[in-house]
Amino acid sequence: MPGTYYMPGVNLIHRGALNDVGTWAHNLGGTRGLIVASLGSYGEEQGKMVADVLARSGIQSTVYAGAGPNPTDMMVMNGVELYKEQRCDLLVAIGGGSAMDCAKGIGLIISNGGTIDQYEGADKVSRSLPPFITVNTTAGTGSEVTSVAVLTDSRTHHKMTIVDWRLTADVSVNDPQLMVTMPPALTAATGMDALSHAIEAYVATNATALTDALAYEAIVLVFRWLPAAFEHGEDVAARYGMCNAAFLAGLAFNNSGLGYVHALSHPLTGRYGLPHGVLNAMLLPAVMRWNAVLAGTRMAKIAVAMGVGHPWRTDRENAEKAVSGVEDMSHRLKMPSGLAAMGVKESDIPALSEEAMQELVGKTNPRQVASVEQMRRLYLDSM
Ligand SMILES: [Fe+2]
Repeated sequence: MPGTYYMPGVNLIHRGALNDVGTWAHNLGGTRGLIVASLGSYGEEQGKMVADVLARSGIQSTVYAGAGPNPTDMMVMNGVELYKEQRCDLLVAIGGGSAMDCAKGIGLIISNGGTIDQYEGADKVSRSLPPFITVNTTAGTGSEVTSVAVLTDSRTHHKMTIVDWRLTADVSVNDPQLMVTMPPALTAATGMDALSHAIEAYVATNATALTDALAYEAIVLVFRWLPAAFEHGEDVAARYGMCNAAFLAGLAFNNSGLGYVHALSHPLTGRYGLPHGVLNAMLLPAVMRWNAVLAGTRMAKIAVAMGVGHPWRTDRENAEKAVSGVEDMSHRLKMPSGLAAMGVKESDIPALSEEAMQELVGKTNPRQVASVEQMRRLYLDSM
């Protein structure tokens, strides 16, 4: 509902914020934590870092490094079992979107029972999650602040989207120090995801004064800091800038909705397993041109936020500058030239277009397609 705002109650964004997790876990009444981290040894390491911080506040914990990319209901249920076995009363997620989404699923089942598929859709959760802290290690998905979890059915591979305000974390943590080791390609992909959140939120049909402010400043910050974070990963000021950009963009779209970039991107991830942020970067120009017909003034303001718009130009000219601003940024970040270069086959586009038509995230796009043929055109223009 536009004008109703959801966000974590406490949000920490500063260098060394990770060290405050113990205090906040204590403030939330946690005594024994399950730490949900990415699958494998890297996740184990990150989980151990959180465990050490919690231990300093006298909180015991168990690391569950079981959240793989595109986390499944099975991964959730394994975490639920461990949570119960260890008698936990606190959830801490560390990582990117996968760890956050898996933790949201675990908290959901712990409090509400049943299986994940029962909660697919909007507002189907009736009980609050256990105390929940999200520690973000990438600057892009916004998952640390959102009320959305995307979980995959392990039998059918169907991606289930669960939206409910109760999935929102109690405390979100963005510590730029955790991001200095992020490789350039991941920095670029997650940064462009943040940019796509901000641009889609700014023109979405549910946009409000608050989401406008959040989205606009996120665009300013991406254009100020993303190239530096990409080229000099150890630059903490650049990482801090991108923490803020991704955080603001996450809050913006959590409250305004997204659009066709995400509607077109999701079926491509499902079919080819391609990285979300890179796909969004490839799709943004065509969707922005499509939207500029109805949202030209807003698109012109986006150009101003990017630093490439000028008041003496027409809205139409500025909107085109916004599109070339995105293309130039993709080029600078050494992104592929289009979907074809990423291996997307033209023969798959009819089926992909049918799927994109069904995507809920497309409902808040400012200019709706009148036919599947127009959706197909957006894919073709992004090849
Ligand atoms: Fe996204």
